[in-house]
Amino acid sequence: MPAPSLLYGTAWKEDRTAALTEQALRAGFRGIDTANQRRHYVEAGVGEGLAAAYRAGVVTRAEVFLQTKFTYLPGQDHRLPYDPSASLSAQVAQSMASSLEHLGTDHVDSYVLHGPASAQGWSPYDVEVWAAMTKERDAGRTRLLGVSNVSLRHLQQLVASGAEPPAFVQNRCFARAGWDRAVRAFCAERHIVYQGFSLLTANPEALRHRVVLAAAARNRATPPQVIFRFARAVGMLPLTGTTDERHMKQDLASERLTLSDDETRAIETLAG
Ligand SMILES: NC(=O)c1ccc[n+]([C@@H]2O[C@H](COP(=O)([O-])OP(=O)(O)OC[C@H]3O[C@@H](n4cnc5c(N)ncnc54)[C@H](OP(=O)(O)O)[C@@H]3O)[C@@H](O)[C@H]2O)c1
Repeated sequence: MPAPSLLYGTAWKEDRTAALTEQALRAGFRGIDTANQRRHYVEAGVGEGLAAAYRAGVVTRAEVFLQTKFTYLPGQDHRLPYDPSASLSAQVAQSMASSLEHLGTDHVDSYVLHGPASAQGWSPYDVEVWAAMTKERDAGRTRLLGVSNVSLRHLQQLVASGAEPPAFVQNRCFARAGWDRAVRAFCAERHIVYQGFSLLTANPEALRHRVVLAAAARNRATPPQVIFRFARAVGMLPLTGTTDERHMKQDLASERLTLSDDETRAIETLAG
């Protein structure tokens, strides 16, 4: 299953996770993002939502792009998906086994390192974890690999280490940083798909900018729909974690909006 053009994010949904995952699939989402990090996600709830959708004949496993993540110990609370005294390589294997059990599948489509060990650069810990994730891929438990919350420096060092580059980069996307311009350019040169999150919540200034409001009015659409359409126009794979059925439909329908090249350029540079 190739990545669809919009991913449904399952963070912060707690006991609504299963119902919202099923609702998102019924609304038409075919890509689901989660993480084996109980602090922010209920991955088992995502599995329940998927199972309900399969049972109801809404989708089959083969029609869904499933993405989950490995999260280092400092990003977790006490509800761990691995033995914290095990080696990092063993933690990756244990976390993956637990994810597959939660999600009721024998493989995911994308496995993402939730964030590097240090903000300063790609460390020896990341080298070990990335090698372990690559082994999971080679064993068929994920089709593709990704990294999240990375700087340009992390990516340059990852590539310089001689390791295989990721298929995906997933970052919080700030309009004031040219919508993560430097990282997006690095990705575009290497055919890495850039996944953008917090497109709405991180960018209130973009949602009320006159170019966005004008494009929304012309399309008889909403400013959030314009932002999602813009994200796709510049090559991103956007995430939305909406909990509202109407917004689910609007976010999916944003694909049908039209934006001129001038509008796209103006939005790309509206804050930085
Ligand atoms: N890798 C990481 O570290 C990381 C970090 C954060 C998030 N993520 C992923 O990204 C996903 C999305 O997170 P996010 O940070 O982008 O924010 P989010 O949790 O999806 O929040 C989006 C906000 O925008 C609103 N919204 C969505 N569509 C809308 C529309 N059409 N009209 C008006 N409001 C709309 C939502 O409100 P309603 O619910 O009312 O629609 C919500 O308040 C997460 O679930 C997670 O999977 C990953």
